[in-house]
Amino acid sequence: MTKTLLRGRVLSFHADPAETADSHRFWENGAILVEDGRILAVGDYADTRDPEAREIDHRPHIIMAGFIDPHIHFPQVQVVAAWAAQLLDWLNDHTFPIEAQYRDPAHAARMAEAFLDQLLLNGTTTASAFCSVHRESAEALFTAAEVRGMAMLAGKVMMDRNAPDAVLDTAQASYDDSRALIDRWHGRGRLEYVITPRFAITSTPGQLRAAGTLAAENPGLAVQTHLNENRAEIELTMQLYPEAQDYLDIYDRFGLLGPRSLMGHAIHMNDREIARMAETGTRAIHCPTSNLFLGSGLFDDRGMRDAGIVTGVATDIGGGTNWSMLATLAEAYKIAQMRGQRMHPLAAFHWATRGNAVALGIEDRVGSVQPGRFADLVVLDPRATQAMRLRHDKVDSLMQELFILQVMGDDRAVVETYVAGRPMKPGMRPAN
Ligand code: GUN
Ligand code: ZN
Repeated sequence: MTKTLLRGRVLSFHADPAETADSHRFWENGAILVEDGRILAVGDYADTRDPEAREIDHRPHIIMAGFIDPHIHFPQVQVVAAWAAQLLDWLNDHTFPIEAQYRDPAHAARMAEAFLDQLLLNGTTTASAFCSVHRESAEALFTAAEVRGMAMLAGKVMMDRNAPDAVLDTAQASYDDSRALIDRWHGRGRLEYVITPRFAITSTPGQLRAAGTLAAENPGLAVQTHLNENRAEIELTMQLYPEAQDYLDIYDRFGLLGPRSLMGHAIHMNDREIARMAETGTRAIHCPTSNLFLGSGLFDDRGMRDAGIVTGVATDIGGGTNWSMLATLAEAYKIAQMRGQRMHPLAAFHWATRGNAVALGIEDRVGSVQPGRFADLVVLDPRATQAMRLRHDKVDSLMQELFILQVMGDDRAVVETYVAGRPMKPGMRPAN
């Protein structure tokens, strides 16, 4: 089998820098030996080199695990930068009409290529994606991800009320379609199905029951949805579910909480909800650019972590405004500042890689540069633009270089993206 040796400055996390000093390894003159898509060895170049391996020299760039985006909407490729008031108007005026187009398999297939191009252009190698209500949209995304060999988590959204007919299913149809997709795609290669009730507003109790049944029938499957994003959303939600104690309780009643449940946003939380999320192991996914763009609020990462909740950080395209996890970390940093919380650059890069893998429950496969993991990697250049080079002239530590990438970086800082050891950063060809 052919081996590849990727040479560069290698950074790998094995724990969260926010929790322990022994969190990472950095090899200034490092290398990663790859065989059959997986990491065989990592360390100093002198110890890792292999006469049989083809060498690719990425010095002086930094090689780390590819970014993971744990909350993104595939059918919102063309929604980014839609001018609207806040969440509910944005959904009704822009998002639902655009998602309606994903009924057409040809359109969905074209957009799936654009979606994956954007992820890889930005160094993101894995995502947990919401598809549209149409089964065809999930088919298109899984098909395209399989061709590229990417680890993709995705599910068709279940939504049976409070939206135009063109993006509605029924409780039974959403159950049947989700089941068919699970049977066809879950566990196939690197693909994983995620049970995806969009949010409580667009699901009848009958549909949330169907989602809970799917979760009970398929133990270990992830669940993704939205929680406590926006004040008007919360008010309408509680009108629709008057018997529930609070928003989280709605999902709880239908068996939708647990360590593989991913709650997008989770901004306006009460104490009971925080305690219940921690108790059930339910994950909270911070969507900083989206929360700022839609005026939703400031996620309390420190508060969630102190309560024992595992958090992830995501783009939430297309409520989110930037495909880059670097730009996403920049906005997360600013939100932390607004809340008087510190975010160390090492903790930020851990979050976007291994931290998100932990949030998704896939850290045994991706998220760190360790033997046995998939060689899903990103190569980053902290001197990618003139402005970055000017700043770089004044810094002298890895930590400061990472901070330049975090605050000033975007797709231009991504030199290459490897998926299972194969270079995959798209060229400048048009997306479709
Ligand atoms: N809540 C329900 N659907 C959505 C969505 O598509 N984006 C965001 N940001 N919030 C939602
Ligand atoms: Zn979302």
